[in-house]
Amino acid sequence: MTNTTGGTRRLVVDPREPDLAVIDTAARVIAAGGLVAFPTETVYGLGADALSTAAVGRIFVAKARPTTDPLIVHVASAAEVSTVAAVVPDVAYALAERFWPGPLTLILPRRETVPAMVTAGTGTVAIRVPAHPVAQALLKAAARPIAAPSANRFSRPSPTTAAHVLADLDGLIDLVLDAGPTDIGVESTIVDLTGAVPVVRRAGGVPVEAIAEVLSALQVETARVTTPDSAQVAPGQLLRHYAPQAALTVFDGSRESVVARIGREVRTCAARGELVGVLAPDEVLVTLAPAVAAMASAGRVLVETLGPWAEPAAAARVLFAAIRRLDEAGVSAMLATGPTRAGLGAAVWDRLRRAAEGRVVQL
Ligand code: TXA
Ligand code: MG
Repeated sequence: MTNTTGGTRRLVVDPREPDLAVIDTAARVIAAGGLVAFPTETVYGLGADALSTAAVGRIFVAKARPTTDPLIVHVASAAEVSTVAAVVPDVAYALAERFWPGPLTLILPRRETVPAMVTAGTGTVAIRVPAHPVAQALLKAAARPIAAPSANRFSRPSPTTAAHVLADLDGLIDLVLDAGPTDIGVESTIVDLTGAVPVVRRAGGVPVEAIAEVLSALQVETARVTTPDSAQVAPGQLLRHYAPQAALTVFDGSRESVVARIGREVRTCAARGELVGVLAPDEVLVTLAPAVAAMASAGRVLVETLGPWAEPAAAARVLFAAIRRLDEAGVSAMLATGPTRAGLGAAVWDRLRRAAEGRVVQL
């Protein structure tokens, strides 16, 4: 066990075979109404007893999150869904069968036992069965549902390591279980099952293509601009999300046009003596290399790879950490483009777009 400078306890735990004594310690913190950050296969979550209004209230305070933004309730298995959902339609079981435990969240009608604080008074509840062995062990040991948003300060990139959690929340939470970097790197896919037709509210760890294979009908909602206090049909669609300190601009179009434009932007920034960050797939970075090389040797360009263009899962895994690294380096601007939109690419482009707060340049 270590105590961090801010006072939050950090306990290292094996990601595959978590030490049950450590898990038990964390479960007791949850049972006592405390806050525990823990790894899931997507990102680290900030957990509290989902059935305690007081405990859940602490999550909103620690994250500085508006209380209009509801939380995901995590349970150990699909069998427990009926303890927090009032109605569980057949389609929920079909999706659960195929994707749980895993990076899928289902929105269902809320049961009265779930505090209104968790659901932001919506009458619906978001539910997820995570696959990560540490999350599973914690849910079993705590023997109650755990409400957990991503363990970052509101509107910061989601944390994929315990260090990211502590960078945002040290001293504001009781404990972080450190099981190393998370596997998927972007949050769960959210599917709303409360309407006539299932709707994807957030692209995430389960590709939308895979969900469509299970369902006869499926709608996909795209991010719209809303403000934290506006009435939220889909709270997860807040556009100001994952926002880095430096302005991030996303470039979308043919590879040639994107490379040419980012190259121009890099030269302009470098000419002004600014430190600029570039975030892009390998193929884009390779083509950009000549333009960047001279500036990079002067230390004015920092490059973060999103992996091969055709492997969006690789981009998902490193995206948030890369944005945080560029922020820490103090870049004045970030120039980004994404991988293919297939598979996890949809989630990666969605997060880039939100990080850009709408600064998307269509080429
Ligand atoms: O992978 C994940 O989903 C992670 C891990 C920790 O499970 N959690 C996560 O939670 O990303 P959070 O709070 O950062 O994002 C959950 C999103 C929020 O944008 C919230 O507005 C939306 O889900 N949400 C939660 N309950 C909802 C509800 N009843 N109706 C509509 N949207 C809801
Ligand atoms: Mg979040």
